[in-house]
Amino acid sequence: MNGYVESSLEGKVAIITGAASGIGAATARLFNHAGARALLVDQNSRSLESLAAELGGDTSYSVADVSTPEGVQAYVKEARDRFGGIDILVSNAGIISRTAPIAETSVEDFDRVIAVNLRSMFLGLKYVLPELEARGGGSVVMTASTAALRGGFGTAPYVTSKHGVLGLMRVAATEYSGKNIRINAVNPGPTDTNMIAEVTSERAGQAAGRSSSAEVKEGLRLRLPMQRYGRAEEIGRMIMFLASDAASFCTGGYYVVDGGMTGGP
Ligand code: NAI
Repeated sequence: MNGYVESSLEGKVAIITGAASGIGAATARLFNHAGARALLVDQNSRSLESLAAELGGDTSYSVADVSTPEGVQAYVKEARDRFGGIDILVSNAGIISRTAPIAETSVEDFDRVIAVNLRSMFLGLKYVLPELEARGGGSVVMTASTAALRGGFGTAPYVTSKHGVLGLMRVAATEYSGKNIRINAVNPGPTDTNMIAEVTSERAGQAAGRSSSAEVKEGLRLRLPMQRYGRAEEIGRMIMFLASDAASFCTGGYYVVDGGMTGGP
C-alpha cells in the first residue's frame, strides 16, 4: 500500500441504514459514485425504492425496522443473498425525541428513541460483525451526533441514545481491533434534513403561532458559527472516508462534522 490511498469503495458491499432520506441518502449516492455495491435499508419503502432505482444495478434495498432483531436479521440475509457477503455497515437510521424536560418525558418516547437510535446499532453490530469477520475484515460507521458530546434542555432520550452510541462503538472497536475490523462514529452538527424540519416545526408549534417553522429554522441558523446548516453530503463524505481503506488507522474514534459548533463556547 503506498501513501496515496483513495477513499475508493470499488467493489465493496455496504449496508446503509436510514438510506431513504437525509444523511443516509446522501451517503448512498456517494458510495454509489465511489463504486460500492449497496443495500439500502429504511422503513420508508417509497423513498427507498425510488433512490435504489435512481442508483441502478449495483444497489438493492430492504424495507426493515432497524430497531427489531427480525428487521436486522432480514437485511443481513438480504445482503448475503444478493451480494455474497458484507464489507461495510453504515448504521445511520435515527429519530429525534419530543422536546420536554425529564419529568414530562413519557416512558414510551424514551423507550422508542432508545430502540431506534441505540438498540438498532447494537443489533447491527451483533448480526453484521460475524459477517465482516467471515470476510476477513471490514468497517462500521455509526452516526452519533454532537448530542453525544454534551447535554441540552429537554433532550434526554435523544442525548442518552447518542451518548450510548459512542459507548457501544468503543466496546465494539476494542473487541474487533485485532480482527481487521474498524469501528468509528460520526458526530454531525445541525444538518439540513427532515430531522431539522421536524425540530423546527415542533418548536414553532410550542411558540403557539408566534413564529413559523421557517422563522425558527432561520433563527437557529443565525446562531450557528458558520451561519449555515450542514449539507447531508458533507456528513456523507466523512462517513465515506471512515468506511474506506483511506482511514486504515482509524478505529474506536468519533469524528465531529459540525461547522464549529462544539469548538465554540
Ligand atoms: P432523516 O429523518 O432525514 O433520516 C432518517 C431516516 O431514518 C429516515 O429515512 C427514516 O425513515 C429512517 N428511520 C427512522 N426510524 C427507522 C427505523 N426504525 N427503521 C428503519 N429506518 C428508520 O434524518 P437525518 O438527519 O438524515 O438523520 C440520520 C442520522 O443522523 C440520525 O441517526 C440522526 O440522529 C443523525 N443526526 C442528524 C443531525 C441533523 O441535524 N440532521 C445531527 C446529528 C445527528
